[in-house]
Amino acid sequence: MTSHPPGRPRVFVARRIPDAGLDRVLAACDAVVWPEELPPSREALLAAVARCDGILTLLTDRVDDELLDAAGPQLRVVSNYAVGFDNIDVAACTRRGIAVGNTPGVLTESTADLAWTLLMAAARRIPEGVDHVRAGRWKTWGPLLLLGPDVHGATLGIVGFGRIGQAVARRAAGFGMTVLYHDVARVPEAVEAELGAAWVPLEELLARADFVTLHVNLTAQTRGLIGADALGRMQPTAMLVNTSRGPVVDTDALVQALRAGTIAAAALDVTDPEPLPADHPLVALDNCLVVPHVASATRATRGAMAEKAAANLLAGLAGEPLPDPVNPEVARR
Ligand code: DGY
Repeated sequence: MTSHPPGRPRVFVARRIPDAGLDRVLAACDAVVWPEELPPSREALLAAVARCDGILTLLTDRVDDELLDAAGPQLRVVSNYAVGFDNIDVAACTRRGIAVGNTPGVLTESTADLAWTLLMAAARRIPEGVDHVRAGRWKTWGPLLLLGPDVHGATLGIVGFGRIGQAVARRAAGFGMTVLYHDVARVPEAVEAELGAAWVPLEELLARADFVTLHVNLTAQTRGLIGADALGRMQPTAMLVNTSRGPVVDTDALVQALRAGTIAAAALDVTDPEPLPADHPLVALDNCLVVPHVASATRATRGAMAEKAAANLLAGLAGEPLPDPVNPEVARR
């Protein structure tokens, strides 16, 4: 890491992001970019943000009063390189007049693609099949080998019916599925009709779905939403997919449910904790598939996220409304 020369706005970029965004930031700011693959330690982060006008953060960087104090009163904008912003104390930023931005929209389809990939892979036992071949256990065509449920014609339960949940529903249409959804509010009837999706109470969704896929934000209300009680309501043949945030699922309850056969399988892009240690019980379970939080990991999507994150940062530094504001009230003051 190099230090900030005087002059242009001072910015800390908490990781190398794709050039599509980083080049704009480097051209306009005196930016220090954290050069490591691993996030800065808390101590390093607090030191790096000191006297910055803007910060470009990742979901691994906690932004709270302590960090805002460390940055100082000149801080104008926090631009998160993610659509989720549960790593940021937005209320604390708003109180201080600091604009917060995120990257909605551009990762919707890639995230829905990965949710669908996980659903298909869990249903058709792809990781087990790959292990079977790699271990030299493929001796013949087996009438009972690696049987799983049909995806086509099954019932899909979507928890959280925003942009990504709706994109998953669109994919389900091609598989002739019955689509149930649950969210705090119903979407307009026209959207339900277009997507062939019916709102049901969460308990009913859990009881009826062959596949439950989670697309809620992490909030105080959704933390632990899928715990022992929710898992107990699911069918023993049902599968759980999570591409939202790890803490939406109670990890210990999930391990228990997978071991006991309360549900058939889980496929997770996000976990609690994250990263999941290699010796974690979820990793060892044959009926659990874990990938390392890669739902938005396509070249195009990560590039588009970088462009959005840069645009938010530069707008905030210029005192303009952010293109994708999390706390638009700051700009209205
Ligand atoms: C997000 O954007 O919130 C994802 O989890 C990472 O792309």
